[in-house]
Amino acid sequence: MTDATPSYLGERHASAERELGTSGVAKRTVGTAESRSASRAWWDADADDYQAEHGQFLGDAEFVWCPEGLREADAGLLGDVAGARVLEVGCGSAPCARWLRGRGAEVVGLDLSSGMLRHALAGNAATGVAVPLVQASAEELPFASGSFDVACSAFGAVPFVADLGAVFGEVARTLRPGGRWVFAVTHPIRWIFPDDPGPLGLTVTQSYFDRTPYVEVDDDGAATYVEHHRTLGDFVRHIVGAGLELVDLVEPEWPAGHTREWGQWSPLRGRLFPGTAIFVTRKS
Ligand SMILES: C[S@@+](CC[C@H](N)C(=O)[O-])C[C@H]1O[C@@H](n2cnc3c(N)ncnc32)[C@H](O)[C@@H]1O
Repeated sequence: MTDATPSYLGERHASAERELGTSGVAKRTVGTAESRSASRAWWDADADDYQAEHGQFLGDAEFVWCPEGLREADAGLLGDVAGARVLEVGCGSAPCARWLRGRGAEVVGLDLSSGMLRHALAGNAATGVAVPLVQASAEELPFASGSFDVACSAFGAVPFVADLGAVFGEVARTLRPGGRWVFAVTHPIRWIFPDDPGPLGLTVTQSYFDRTPYVEVDDDGAATYVEHHRTLGDFVRHIVGAGLELVDLVEPEWPAGHTREWGQWSPLRGRLFPGTAIFVTRKS
């Protein structure tokens, strides 16, 4: 892998790269259709490895927001969810959705990848907490307007879509007035450093202002993995543009004694600068 490997890649993802024929890295623009088909193929191919590597940390019915280990049970960013209708966007194996169900929410988990949803079904069966699951892309939510009181996402969909305005617009449409949209992403400041958990990941190598996505490609130049960068200002503009208010921006600190690395997230870097940004927004 290159020195600019993105958050979720690295040598641990060799089997997905082999399956997809990943042979290099490109810095180029990528539109909605190519981003979506690359993400779907990537998460299908990587689902088993992702679950094997992170499943225990994420739990079967826990809501962990980020590699720093912040839990919704402690953070309370969604408010009281008992009786609330909740949409989880990019739910993966859906431990957050099952945690929400356990707190009395009526929850739906949505994800693009059948490979990830296969693990969500297995988690439903293992826990006996059967949350409804929908396979769809976040830019086209198959729900009526005003269907949900809360929408949330822990690193699901948002970093992987070309058209963030479409996602926020769809989330805003499906929320009732006063509803919350809370989502966690890689903190935009991480973009300027190589994705290395060690000392190499402490030196700036690229511009914060360069929005060209990170793209892995096969021999024909087709994208096999895409990750999009937005600055903090970009996120705020998209939030406001979708008719949402920014209520809080949470930057979880690396907890003392937390030693578990996740890709580029490490105690070394976490002590110095944020790795995760959680945006708490509200529909006006
Ligand atoms: C890093 S995983 C996060 C999964 C889960 N939230 C967690 O915390 O483990 C990213 C998830 O986003 C999903 N995803 C990527 N692009 C998407 C899209 N356009 N629409 C919906 N889900 C998408 C992937 O399939 C994957 O399950």
